[in-house]
Amino acid sequence: MAEKPTVLVTRKLPDAVEARLQRDFDARLNPDDILYSAEDLVERGAGADALLACPTETLGADVIARLPGSIRAIATYSVGYDHIDLDAAKNRGIIVTNTPGVLTDATAEIAILLMLAAARRAHEGERLVRTGAWRDWSPTAMLGTQVSGKRLGIIGMGRIGATVARMARGFAMEIHYTSASRLPAEAEQGAIFHPQIDDLLAASDFLSLHCPATPETTGLLNAARIARLPAGAIVVNTARGAIVDDDALIDALRSGHVAAAGLDVYAGEPDIHPGYRGLDNVFLLPHVGSATRETRDAMGFRALDNLDAVFAGEDPRDRLV
Ligand code: DGY
Repeated sequence: MAEKPTVLVTRKLPDAVEARLQRDFDARLNPDDILYSAEDLVERGAGADALLACPTETLGADVIARLPGSIRAIATYSVGYDHIDLDAAKNRGIIVTNTPGVLTDATAEIAILLMLAAARRAHEGERLVRTGAWRDWSPTAMLGTQVSGKRLGIIGMGRIGATVARMARGFAMEIHYTSASRLPAEAEQGAIFHPQIDDLLAASDFLSLHCPATPETTGLLNAARIARLPAGAIVVNTARGAIVDDDALIDALRSGHVAAAGLDVYAGEPDIHPGYRGLDNVFLLPHVGSATRETRDAMGFRALDNLDAVFAGEDPRDRLV
């Protein structure tokens, strides 16, 4: 029987995913879920055929250059791949795959949760109840912003953006969007396309970010663009922290121009901009967009489908390079 390919798995994965890994591969697991340094990856990857990596490992050109020559593929356990230098991988002939499609609903759910939590002051309300500081029902306390019937601006109408739009229609929200290209009418479902981001911003009572982090989108939501939002707008980010200029958003949250924000992702996470921690009008989650049992299994299976294809000599379905 042919030897099984060796896969270095950088994080502890769900049981069902690890069971399949152990069945089909010589899997080097990480049962203690240690965060591997570049050094660890190079050492532990010696002789491995593939890496099953996560967004917690930054695979820049410097690291990719040092990976053992035996590595033929990197399957990232994520849809986002801004942590991997694709050009460097391509130059070394390393195939890179991601896991699109399987985390769409879970991430869209978190965008809706953030929207509701930010608008309805969930963090403040929760704290009142937990700390015993809640005195009574009051006609004028804890007033938030109503979500129903408002305009939702979406930057990036890919799978997740479109699913957020579908869910938001359940709140009778009017959907506006900007994207690389306009969707066909049947996919738009009445959403209003704005070729210019500035026009979208002006029409966004709520703004939800769903574009990838690229050099072009880094700092996209900056002070000038935030100023285009209607006063009292609410900003939600489940995409990547790098898309937001944190100083600018924090200034706008302090001034009240942005009434509230809901964030699941941060530049430099987990070391988030300290300015967010002191603000009551921001609802913060620790990058849990895809964190459901169903989705984390599906992400693992998708990554393994891609590795299976690589080792069967086929083109993997989610090949990036
Ligand atoms: C992704 O897949 O890119 C998410 O951010 C992590 O689930």
